Amino acid sequence: AACTELGAILAGMRRGVAFTGAGLSTESGIPDFRSPGGLWTRNKPIDYGAFLSDRAMRREAWRRRFAMEEAFAGAAPGRGHRRLAQWLAGGQLAGIVTQNIDGLHQASGVPDERLVELHGNTTYATCLDCGERYELDWVRQRFEAHALAVPDCLDCGGPIKTATISFGQPMPRTAMVRAHELTRACDVFLAIGSSLVVWPAAGFPVEAKRHGATLVIINREPTEFDEIADLVIHADIGDVLDAAAETK
Ligand code: OAD
Ligand code: ZN
Repeated sequence: AACTELGAILAGMRRGVAFTGAGLSTESGIPDFRSPGGLWTRNKPIDYGAFLSDRAMRREAWRRRFAMEEAFAGAAPGRGHRRLAQWLAGGQLAGIVTQNIDGLHQASGVPDERLVELHGNTTYATCLDCGERYELDWVRQRFEAHALAVPDCLDCGGPIKTATISFGQPMPRTAMVRAHELTRACDVFLAIGSSLVVWPAAGFPVEAKRHGATLVIINREPTEFDEIADLVIHADIGDVLDAAAETK
């Protein structure tokens, strides 16, 4: 019944926004953060200040990243990614705002101009001082060849970090501006696979609702914003989006 209702909302959607979290990628074999077995249940996050000031922390951050390489490098878009890419190509979705760092929206064919990455991207690295881009393979070769010492920027000597946003790190300005624009202009806001506990990202569903959008939340677990949503579905994302697409 909920999927029929979602089908009806999707049928009328003209400039929707999908707002995605780690739950979208669990089907692709990438663990989320807060479910049992999630990343933050195993490791405490390394915040930005610690990464900058402490070489041992920097090394630990890279060790963890390389330990995840198989999951990230081997991952392919799941059913949810594919449905969203389809609705975007069909013109019902105006854009996708993601907290995910795995590059799977791009892999499903979403063009950069339709995608906002609020928390950056872990599939490559940059120098925090000069912005020079480094590929992970290059970092890893150095790391392993130099007794797990983290390489510094070849140009300026600055610290090299995956192109992600850590706790304590400023949000990317352009991404925030674009996310606000999409959120204020949308008719339907689909919050998919996020616990909605991390700010400022968690503010977007509220902002959409305040600007008149129909708010839909699809997540296995309840969220704090379920009570302001127009439709809440607690089920598997792939199942829900496929079912909704078929009833539409
Ligand atoms: P979380 O791990 O906090 O939440 C993921 C949600 O997805 C959970 O509530 C799960 O129940 C749900 N879920 C998992 N698999 C699902 C499936 N197949 N179908 C339906 N629901 C499913 O991840 P995010 O909300 O994305 O930020 O986390 C937000 C931010 O916290 C991340 O971007 C990251 C993290 O710290 C930074 O690192 C800055
Ligand atoms: Zn540099």
